Amino acid sequence: MNDALKIAVFASGRGSNFEAILKAIRTGGIRGAGIVAVISNNPGSGALETARRNEIPALHISRTQFDSDGAFDAELLGALGKYGANFIVLAGYMKKVSPAVIAKFRNRIINIHPALLPEFGGKGMYGERVHRAVIEGGAKESGATVHMVDEVYDHGAVILQRKVPVSPDDTPETLAAKILKVEHEIYPEAIRLFAEGKIVIKDKTVSTVS
Ligand code: GAR
Repeated sequence: MNDALKIAVFASGRGSNFEAILKAIRTGGIRGAGIVAVISNNPGSGALETARRNEIPALHISRTQFDSDGAFDAELLGALGKYGANFIVLAGYMKKVSPAVIAKFRNRIINIHPALLPEFGGKGMYGERVHRAVIEGGAKESGATVHMVDEVYDHGAVILQRKVPVSPDDTPETLAAKILKVEHEIYPEAIRLFAEGKIVIKDKTVSTVS
């Protein structure tokens, strides 16, 4: 593969964001990027199933398989090296990425979060819990955020963000569905910008060049 961006996707669940990214790559919406492996902590994840169906290496690597953080990190970094990954896309990955992986892939890891960071992020804020907190907090709008990953949960610089209105009759499920639709648009868009070299990161500040 001669792509500039050799992506390893980390996913824990359904994997619809991974599918949206794969579709954008396969249909030419993103050029210069390929998915070299999908890694999941969950052997039953939809993401691994989709990877296998598409003949992409699908790896189950979980901390629970190892005696130490060091052994787990070594396995992960070994797999990333084996498949030649130079970029990591977290797509519904419900585990914290270890400092060893972040250090090796500094400014080369992105995540999508189903709210408008810095609001409604941080430890324990994932999936349905985020939408429940948004509704209970009476927020009038929510949305999706693509951001850089650093050592702090949901903390790295924002790359793209899109808003979604919260209706008075929204439930966590309806709000999640509205936001997921937006996620499937902005995540491929962010990766396209990286693949085209249009994202510049300097002193933890992200800017987009045209
Ligand atoms: C997405 O809504 C994503 O934003 C969220 O999990 C879902 C995964 O869906 N991620 C987080 O909450 C991370 N903090 P998917 O498996 O269908 O892509």
